[in-house]
Amino acid sequence: MSEAILKVTGLSKSFDGVRALSDLSCDLCRGEILGLIGPNGAGKTTLFNVVTGFIAPEGGKVSLKSTDITGLAPHRLANRGIARTFQDLRLIRQLSALDNALLSFRDQPGERLGNVFFRARRGREHERQNRQEAIRLLEDAGIAEKADDPAEDLSYGQQKLLSLVCCLAARAEVVLLDEPVAGIAPEMKEKILGMIRDLRDNGKSVVLIEHDLDAVMQTCDRVVFMDAGAKVSEGTPQEVRNDPKVIEAYID
Ligand SMILES: Nc1ncnc2c1ncn2[C@@H]1O[C@H](COP(=O)(O)OP(=O)(O)OP(=O)(O)O)[C@@H](O)[C@H]1O
Ligand SMILES: [Mg+2]
Repeated sequence: MSEAILKVTGLSKSFDGVRALSDLSCDLCRGEILGLIGPNGAGKTTLFNVVTGFIAPEGGKVSLKSTDITGLAPHRLANRGIARTFQDLRLIRQLSALDNALLSFRDQPGERLGNVFFRARRGREHERQNRQEAIRLLEDAGIAEKADDPAEDLSYGQQKLLSLVCCLAARAEVVLLDEPVAGIAPEMKEKILGMIRDLRDNGKSVVLIEHDLDAVMQTCDRVVFMDAGAKVSEGTPQEVRNDPKVIEAYID
């Protein structure tokens, strides 16, 4: 197994007495797609919320490339190269698809220059580059013709693609995807899974939460199955699928 880029150790978090994370430890290796599966309420999204700084854990640690990042604010974690999508998408509905993508770019280098004239010129050049890159991402996702439409006018599948584009615009090394193919048509599903594999092939490290087991099995290098906030099984997709504890959970 290659080196861990992201490591969580002994994480715990409760909500009103419900254990959402219970001493959870897990590694994401550099350049892999790690599948995260488990029943509703297993704690999958809570894990993302803790790793991306939206929720503070009650115990445990999150490390990125061996640096302790536990409890850092979401924007700081974004600047360190962790990007995510949300289960409920969280696009800005009235803004165009292109503007949603543009808002997701990190760093504005113009701000660091002292001279106002150069700052403005650099800023404009930077804006132009981001715009070009955003259009390229929308093209790759097959939704460039929707660039000027408000996000709310896109179909649900197109909105899922747009939320993935926004995540890619951050150019993060670690990409956390919360149910990116849930509830969409098969051809769009294939498109999104292809984009996720491309991410991995371009050296990114990906965690994929998904209930669609076939999608997980065909896309992931490794899978973690969690239940009641704890890791129950871990291994290759085949190993996890054949684990009696996993089979039992999915039959119940
Ligand atoms: N902000 C919150 N406030 C209160 N309870 C929460 C909060 N977030 C999560 N929970 C609870 O924590 C538990 C784990 O929820 P979580 O959303 O992490 O599960 P999940 O594995 O993502 O489920 P699903 O597959 O349905 O998305 C659940 O019991 C949920 O109700
Ligand atoms: Mg969830």
